[in-house]
Amino acid sequence: MKIVIAGGSGFVGQHVSRLLIHSGHEVMLLSRQSSENISLNNIHARHIQWDGCSQGAWTRECEGADVVINLSGAPIADKRWTAKRKRELIDSRVVSTRALGEAIRRWETKPHTFLTASGIGYYGAQGATKVDETFPPGDGFLADLCVKWENAAQQIETADLRVLQVRFGMVLGLDGGALPKMIFPFQWFLGGPILPGTQFVSWIHQQDLAQLILFLISHPSIVSHPSIQGPVNAVAPNPVTMQDFCQALGKAMNRPSWFPVPEFVLETALGELASMLTTGQRVEPQQALQNGFSFAYPTLSAALDEIFSNHSTRKD
Ligand SMILES: NC(=O)c1ccc[n+]([C@@H]2O[C@H](COP(=O)([O-])OP(=O)(O)OC[C@H]3O[C@@H](n4cnc5c(N)ncnc54)[C@H](OP(=O)(O)O)[C@@H]3O)[C@@H](O)[C@H]2O)c1
Repeated sequence: MKIVIAGGSGFVGQHVSRLLIHSGHEVMLLSRQSSENISLNNIHARHIQWDGCSQGAWTRECEGADVVINLSGAPIADKRWTAKRKRELIDSRVVSTRALGEAIRRWETKPHTFLTASGIGYYGAQGATKVDETFPPGDGFLADLCVKWENAAQQIETADLRVLQVRFGMVLGLDGGALPKMIFPFQWFLGGPILPGTQFVSWIHQQDLAQLILFLISHPSIVSHPSIQGPVNAVAPNPVTMQDFCQALGKAMNRPSWFPVPEFVLETALGELASMLTTGQRVEPQQALQNGFSFAYPTLSAALDEIFSNHSTRKD
């Protein structure tokens, strides 16, 4: 298949691109960066430049794609959520989705699937309640962002074009996402849970996420009889509390998990963004499991052991 990935230069996009190419697909990476500036770490994909918001030469180059994937978005946790930053976080997702939708509408040959990233922040703070794809959106900025993002993708759906909103949990890998930031204090024997510690962390190993995306866009039983459409939770089947997450992280790194981070410290440092860390969701991958997807890393210890097995942060 020909697959376009917007925002494919990032952490998730690079893993997905590698797997898709390895599986025999042709990948076109849509990026705002020029071919001189983009760093693709030996990914043999075709690079196409766009601006993330308007139509241009890229639309003709991408026409004929079987699948379009959108992973674009300004980083959620890099800056405090000021009003201006919130606007950037929303626009970088919604406007890029609309631009892709507009291009697809003009194409004579349409893709069969449009897949957008979303996040489990959709569900808001849910305490220990188990949530699956049927749960309504929660409250707060992230939930509002995910609703707008998913709705923009939904507008692209037609009778022949399936839309999937894949709600990522915390994606675990050492080359991007939250984990590299979390391990820093552990490396200095200063690691510990973010309080209250009882909030749930729903996570997924980067390889399982890439495999799940491949499964959703290419598994014959799904593509020919699309049993899956709409939201799909991309989380491992065993979410854990923050307390247990940090204990498992310490164990995988051979470091203690002794120093809890009080909520007020994070709130002072990060403002509203702290709520993303001090609250959580206990998310179940119901759609993936019901449709026969098998996780290579269903437990946190298996995932962390794989991640740290060849990494120098693990000291004996
Ligand atoms: N990683 C996670 O744990 C996680 C969890 C939940 C949801 N997600 C979502 O999944 C998507 C992919 O995640 P990721 O970790 O791969 O993110 P990432 O590494 O930050 O990559 C996202 C890509 O989006 C593009 N981008 C950045 N700023 C942008 C802007 N202002 N406007 C338009 N495009 C912009 C960039 O591509 P170019 O510079 O090449 O255009 C970048 O490579 C993101 O939307 C993220 O919010 C990730």
